[in-house]
Amino acid sequence: MQTRVLITGVTGFVASHLAEYCLGKGCQVVGTRRRRSPLTNIKAIIDNKQFRLVEAELEDSRSIYSAIRTNQPDLVFHLAAQSFVPTSFELPHYTLQTNILGTLALLEGLRQWSDSSSPKIHIACSSEEYGLVSSDECPIVETQALRPLSPYAVSKVACDLLGAQYARAYGMHIVRTRAFNHEGARRGVEFVTSNFARQAVMLAAGKISELKVGNLEAVRDFSHVKDIVHGYWLALEKGETGEVYNICGGKGVKILEIIDILSRILGRELPFSVDSQRLRPSDVPYLVGDCSKFRKQTGWEPKLTFEDAMRDLVIYWREELGLS
Ligand code: GDD
Repeated sequence: MQTRVLITGVTGFVASHLAEYCLGKGCQVVGTRRRRSPLTNIKAIIDNKQFRLVEAELEDSRSIYSAIRTNQPDLVFHLAAQSFVPTSFELPHYTLQTNILGTLALLEGLRQWSDSSSPKIHIACSSEEYGLVSSDECPIVETQALRPLSPYAVSKVACDLLGAQYARAYGMHIVRTRAFNHEGARRGVEFVTSNFARQAVMLAAGKISELKVGNLEAVRDFSHVKDIVHGYWLALEKGETGEVYNICGGKGVKILEIIDILSRILGRELPFSVDSQRLRPSDVPYLVGDCSKFRKQTGWEPKLTFEDAMRDLVIYWREELGLS
């Protein structure tokens, strides 16, 4: 029997890569999409006979319940979210509503339906939940205190805890992951890697004279998105019900280093200046994880490097902008 997969927010960056991964595994994939979300990220799979797109507003519990009942998934990957940290400072209400109530509606829909079936459910949480971490608390393990620094991070803490509570209270097979930053082609232009790669491609083509940047002192633990979606698959295949797992590479990269990497890839200097509009009310200074628990449980190993992800982004932006 073919495995039926439901992915929420399939037009998003990570979800589109996950959909491709699941199709590659021979699954039937149903992806939910909000009305009006652009289809660009899924253009390579939209005509695939094993792929189906359904419209569903996550906070509208009826539409998500109907998507669940009609498609009877074996595996559910919940990725739909407002995921850009700065937007969460501007639109905290929207962010909390979309992320928390969206997760709640999905879990409720699954709880009602799974009286008769028991799908495995993955909830994509985030390393941002850790927030303020001191150097002696790094690399971060799953038992680290959660000290979120943005409305987005608070929303992800709530989704994370809802997942744990539903697993405990109703015996649902829910596995949560806290992935650290992950990058690659199709990453939204608002995120640092994609934004810098786009500017660098434009600079190399003579369209701009310098890169505009924000806080270059922050440190993040970057992985390639393809390794992360493989991790999400393994989380459901081998992860324990009710557990939470970090997924990351375990190496800290200063944001400034992204400019050096791009400079190497493009073979040229990349002048830059700080744009104060790009600074956040509070930024997470240092996020580097330890994912020994996940590796031990699932055997996950990253196959690609952060530099591979940056190279993919350069190729992506050259194509998107029609520049070489
Ligand atoms: N976006 C952006 N743009 N960030 C910049 C810039 C810039 O011009 N300049 C410096 N930065 C810094 C940010 O201040 C932050 O410290 C870091 O680059 C990374 O920013 P983002 O790429 O926006 O990602 P994030 O770390 O805030 O959040 C991402 O990772 C989380 C996992 O840890 C997002 O993908 C979240 O949705 C995800 O949960």
